[in-house]
Amino acid sequence: MKEVQVINIRGGRILDETTDAQGRLADIHIAGGVITEVVDAGSKLPKADIDLDATNCFVSPGFVDLHVHLREPGREESETIETGSRAAALGGFTAVVAMPNTEPSQDSRIVVEFVRAQGERAGLCEVIPSACITVGRAGQALAPYGELRDAGVTLFTDDGNGVQDPLLMRRALEYARDLDITLAQHCEVSSLTVGAVMHEGSCCSHLGLPGWPAIAEELMVHRDIELVRLTGSRIHFLHLSTERSVEMVRHAKAEGLPITAEATPHHFTLTDEALRSFDPVFKVNPPLRTPADIAALKEGLRDGTIDAIATDHAPHASHLKEQPLDQAPPGMLGLETALSLSLSELNMDAQAVVAALSWKPARIAGVGDRHGRPVAVGESANLAIFDPTCEWVVDRDVLASKSKNTPYHGRTVCGKVRHTVFSGQVVVRDGVAQR
Ligand code: DOR
Repeated sequence: MKEVQVINIRGGRILDETTDAQGRLADIHIAGGVITEVVDAGSKLPKADIDLDATNCFVSPGFVDLHVHLREPGREESETIETGSRAAALGGFTAVVAMPNTEPSQDSRIVVEFVRAQGERAGLCEVIPSACITVGRAGQALAPYGELRDAGVTLFTDDGNGVQDPLLMRRALEYARDLDITLAQHCEVSSLTVGAVMHEGSCCSHLGLPGWPAIAEELMVHRDIELVRLTGSRIHFLHLSTERSVEMVRHAKAEGLPITAEATPHHFTLTDEALRSFDPVFKVNPPLRTPADIAALKEGLRDGTIDAIATDHAPHASHLKEQPLDQAPPGMLGLETALSLSLSELNMDAQAVVAALSWKPARIAGVGDRHGRPVAVGESANLAIFDPTCEWVVDRDVLASKSKNTPYHGRTVCGKVRHTVFSGQVVVRDGVAQR
């Protein structure tokens, strides 16, 4: 049984969709999982069991990550739903969408229900299971959308694989439209990336490594924009990484097509030059690209072409990740560093960063009724309380994830989550997970 917590949060500035970019100084009272009072800073509040100090902090709606790999069921040596949820809470996330490339994959009601139940058991954030577009993510037959939708799934993806067959993708979009679900595409034409380990460009030629061309992503972005135009269904593009992809999405949105997109912190902070180290920690799918691509992603986030910052948190146990580049699996950790990297590198104000981390992804994930909400009386208490100026050094050995594959080990970043409140419970207090 969930214990009932009565919480006061004092000294912070509320930052949400209704405030201006500076936020608004106010104190907050939470009881029974709900915000029950918001008063002028320093005013009297009812007594609480827990007093959270928010001095120098923003108090914002909790973050929502559209893209995490929690590895359970099947790959628990790399992460579990509990350890991944703890990393999420420490990063200020109150909801995460669990990608379906588990073993078995999330293409049946029973696996989806298992993932949700494990999330509830951990109690650190809401774990929202996604489900596969195709059975086993094999790209051959459509997954049972009706059954999965009835089990509460709203986001479907074969992430890790793109849906290669245009006819199958057309049919998937037609069903998605009729069932009012969202498809999220991993844009990669796989015949163009066989054996690839890094971005195809001058750096990869110099190193003599097989390249991963930008066009492999862009062809699928282009195809799917045309399929959306044909079917009228909506689509979400996962982890966009190239300048041309951003441009195509910008044009498609200007035409009014129902498209949303995300970018990851690693794609807007690191380039293919990192691979000169031959360190597999920098291998990721899609690969790290060029400074021009980074500039385009940042501009896309600034002008709203890219709706959301999503981490693609992809833990891999050391014995898997620390293999030669060609054998190491792609992917890197992201949950505990996303806010800091976004605040440090994007040149956007904190409110615009929180929009891309909170209310915009909340709506895409279909949880906008309880996450990404204004910090106001009557709303569910799902909150991130963070100090935007606190500097800290990323240390892979103190991250909560079960794996250590962060590419930011040793980097000084700015902005830190101090407390996280999930469903009216303090799950992170003074930077320490409470469960
Ligand atoms: O780098 C990646 N790793 N990209 C993906 O799309 C899948 C992910 C994983 O599951 O490790």
